[in-house]
Amino acid sequence: MNRYADRLSHPTVADRVRELARIARYGNGLPRTMSPLRALLRRNGGAPILDVGGGFGDNFILLRKHLGETPYTVVDGAESCRVGRRVLGDRVCFQTDLPTEGQYGLSILIGTLQYILDSKSFISALSRLSGDTIFVSRSPLRKAGDDFYSIQDITPEQGASSAGECVVRVRNVENMADDFAQAGFELIESKEVMSYKEQMSSLPEEYRDCSYFNMTFRKVGLMLLCLTFTGQRYTAELAMV
Ligand SMILES: C[S@@+](CC[C@H](N)C(=O)[O-])C[C@H]1O[C@@H](n2cnc3c(N)ncnc32)[C@H](O)[C@@H]1O
Repeated sequence: MNRYADRLSHPTVADRVRELARIARYGNGLPRTMSPLRALLRRNGGAPILDVGGGFGDNFILLRKHLGETPYTVVDGAESCRVGRRVLGDRVCFQTDLPTEGQYGLSILIGTLQYILDSKSFISALSRLSGDTIFVSRSPLRKAGDDFYSIQDITPEQGASSAGECVVRVRNVENMADDFAQAGFELIESKEVMSYKEQMSSLPEEYRDCSYFNMTFRKVGLMLLCLTFTGQRYTAELAMV
């Protein structure tokens, strides 16, 4: 963490040039992530928000003008929580584990899903806490082929060189949507917002076709669930005839 912070606070000229080149090529990724969120915030009204992997409140800080007094919970590692509490005080609730109870109108996962290796269990746990919408963004997702694991070299955007490595799981975009569907959340919007191919350049060609997507999942209504079950029984009865 200290090494990472040090790199971030002492960017070299080469770091700045690289960052400008990245922005020139892909644009600054933030508006692409944050614009759909603003619409989701309007729908959410003042219902509590759960931000998993929300760092020290980075997303909260960007969104704060639109949040009013909306209760906001960040789940992240102990160090991020410690820094977050120092920066944002009591305005945001920081915790190191997923809440065990509660209902959140909007749950957000920005740049996080790839670090959660057992994402199926996680999606299932998250769905029990989420009352309406789950927004996923900035995780590389594979467009064809099965999920795979890889090792990410963590290089801060403004850092000179590697700050460490960690294991990531790159999910196939449809497999991930299936996990949400099984947890009772349907995909209502999916937009490919940035190719991640270049960042995957050290992998064999067949693993590189990955992108960032903005994906919005909505809880399947009780009415629709009843219809689905009724439909299944009807099909089963027909099969027995
Ligand atoms: C790339 S950062 C994204 C931070 C922030 N959401 C943003 O968009 O700027 C990924 C975050 O996910 C957190 N993270 C990784 N694994 C996690 C887990 N199992 N549970 C909660 N947070 C996790 C990391 O600590 C880190 O803050």
